Formats: sequence, C-alpha cells, structure tokens
Amino acid sequence: MKRNLGVCIIGSGRAGMIHALNFRKNVPNANLVAMVDPNEKVAREATYSLGIDKYYLDYKEALKSDEIDAVVVVTPTVYHRDIVVAAAEAGKHVLCEKPMAMNEKECEEIIQATENNNVKLQIGFMRRFNESFIQAKEEIESGSIGDVVMVRSLTRGPSTPQPWMYDLKKSNGPLAEVNSHDIDTLRWFLGADFESVYAIAGNYRCPEAKEEYPDFYDNVVLNARFTNQKQGIIDGAVSVKYGYDSRVEILGTEGVIFIGQVHEKTVLTANKKGLSRPVMNSWRSLYKDAYLAEDIHFIESILEDKKPKVCGYDGKEAVKVVNAGNRSIKEGNVVLL
Ligand SMILES: NC(=O)c1ccc[n+]([C@@H]2O[C@H](COP(=O)([O-])OP(=O)(O)OC[C@H]3O[C@@H](n4cnc5c(N)ncnc54)[C@H](O)[C@@H]3O)[C@@H](O)[C@H]2O)c1
Repeated sequence: MKRNLGVCIIGSGRAGMIHALNFRKNVPNANLVAMVDPNEKVAREATYSLGIDKYYLDYKEALKSDEIDAVVVVTPTVYHRDIVVAAAEAGKHVLCEKPMAMNEKECEEIIQATENNNVKLQIGFMRRFNESFIQAKEEIESGSIGDVVMVRSLTRGPSTPQPWMYDLKKSNGPLAEVNSHDIDTLRWFLGADFESVYAIAGNYRCPEAKEEYPDFYDNVVLNARFTNQKQGIIDGAVSVKYGYDSRVEILGTEGVIFIGQVHEKTVLTANKKGLSRPVMNSWRSLYKDAYLAEDIHFIESILEDKKPKVCGYDGKEAVKVVNAGNRSIKEGNVVLL
C-alpha cells in the first residue's frame, strides 16, 4: 500500500503553524514530516510543539528529502518565487500562500516551473473553501439574486503588521497582504477578471512606520470595473484594533447576499450598560475550517491527479491587481490592467 504523502511546511510563522497543525492531525493521507525556518529558535520550537523531530534551516536541504512529496510555502511573499520554483524543480507539489509572488513575471515563472515539472500548484485563497462563501457562490449560480452587478468586499485586521510588511518592496503593502483575498473573492463571484482599478490610501493609525516607510498605508479603498462591465469595491485596513472584520456584499438585479459579521458566535449580553457581544478577533478562528478544507483539497488534488480549485492563474491575476492598485495610489489615476 502506498504510504501517506509527506508534507513539509516552509516558513514556521503565524500562517505556517496553521497548516502544520492541520497536516499533523487532520488531513487524511498526509503526514507532516518537517518544518523549515532560517530562525533556528522558531524552527525548533515549532517542531517541539508539533511533536515531530525534523526541522531544516535551509529549504534547499529539505527539498533533497525523499520523504517529502509536497510543500506548503508560507514565508514572507518576497521569497515565494525562488522557493516554489526550487520545489517544483525538485519534483515537490506546492501549496503556495497568497500573495503568490511580488509581480506578474514571478507568477509566470512559478506557473512555468510547476507545469514543466508536472507538479500541482495551489494558491492559498482559502475563503473559497469556507462554507458561507461556497453557499453564496451556489446562490449566485442558481440565479436567486438575478445577475450579479456589484461585489463589495472588506477585510480589516486588528494588529500592527509584521515588520516586513511595512516595506512595500518586500510585501506590496496591505493590498497584497490583506486584500488579496478580497481581490480573489471579487473575481470568483463576478466570474470575470479586473479591467481597471482606481485606489486611494493613507496611513492613519501607524505613526511608527511613517518615517522609515513613507509609502506604507494602513487604509485603502479600491474601485474596479471588470471585463464583463460589472463593478467591485474593496475596503482594506490594518491595525484597526477592534477585531478581525471580513464581510462581503453581493448586489444583484433581483436581490443581495451578505456574508460575515463583526461579532463572534451568537452570544449577546444585556445589562444596565446596554448590549454587548464578543468581537471576532482573528482570521485564525474565523477561517479555521477553510484552512483545513484547503489543505485537504491540496492532498486530494495530488492523489486524484486533479487540477486544484485555486490555481496559478488565480494567484497571478490577484498579484496583477495588487500592483495596479499600488500604481493607482501612487499616480492618482485609473490604471488599466
Ligand atoms: N491565507 C491567509 O489568510 C494568510 C494569513 C497570514 C499570512 N498569510 C501569508 O503567509 C505568508 C507568511 O505570513 P506570516 O504571517 O505567517 O508571516 P510570519 O512573519 O509570521 O512568518 C514567516 C516565517 O517565515 C520564515 N522565513 C523567512 N524566510 C524564510 C525562508 N527562506 N525559508 C523558510 N522560512 C523563512 C520567517 O523566519 C518566519 O518565521 C505570507 O505570504 C502571508 O501573506 C496568509
């Protein structure tokens, strides 16, 4: 009988540990074999907490291992291109976190390398695996709100960004790190690619970043027209403090669909001060099931030799929109894609 697929997580930070925990315990037909991180303390602590014994400081060493069939690339975005290309050349299947890479050329190099080496490439747009998003897509396809005219999607994160995210050259900013998901959501629900964008942005909450990173913005609004002439709006923010906020509104010719809420669960307390409800505080809990479903889908795509539901083209289109949005912010113009 064939052994389970061996999985290695490259990048043992916040998102890396979510995938690691899934593959350690909850993904059928897969075993978590090793973690990679150049920071030895991070790598060692990750493997210890996961109860596995192998870690590497250099991903190139991990890629030599025959025990590893597939990798999840969860490093800062600026390293995605080199790591994914090397993994593909070593014959490993790849689940690459969003944003796929820094620019369109890097995305094309990734797609070429995975095609040339006949390995799967899935991009980490896990919202497509969330129950409510799937149900909304089914509602759209059933025609229950007529023709979709406009999709508005917002994502706002509570915390100050990781230090590497302040540097737009390393991260492409919040449009990439936060709103890649919204970009993919608009494409998916509207069934078309972006044709033009106009974006405005500013830094209102992160004074500590102003001097060293004057281009950094913590609030952005992007308007878009699509190739099928439909409309989209993205609202993105970091460091909002009040909670993790992810909501979507899909407006049709005969109705509307809403996804998401600010509060977590249904508990509501009433007393003399008024009403209170716990706020949703993390993407980890909001999309917990979706991260697991995307990891399961990745392994199924390999074993059943199917194209993953979220592919390199989806990753590349999102990166194109990020770069067009950042150009629009800088130049103050509408940018055509
Ligand atoms: N899908 C999602 O919702 C989601 C959520 C968070 C982050 N992400 C993405 O995951 C990626 C990582 O983000 P994060 O928040 O986990 O960052 P992080 O800073 O918490 O972790 C990144 C880790 O990668 C390590 N690293 C750096 N260079 C490396 C290399 N060459 N090889 C191996 N490891 C290396 C760092 O030491 C660090 O431990 C980013 O692309 C980010 O956009 C996706």
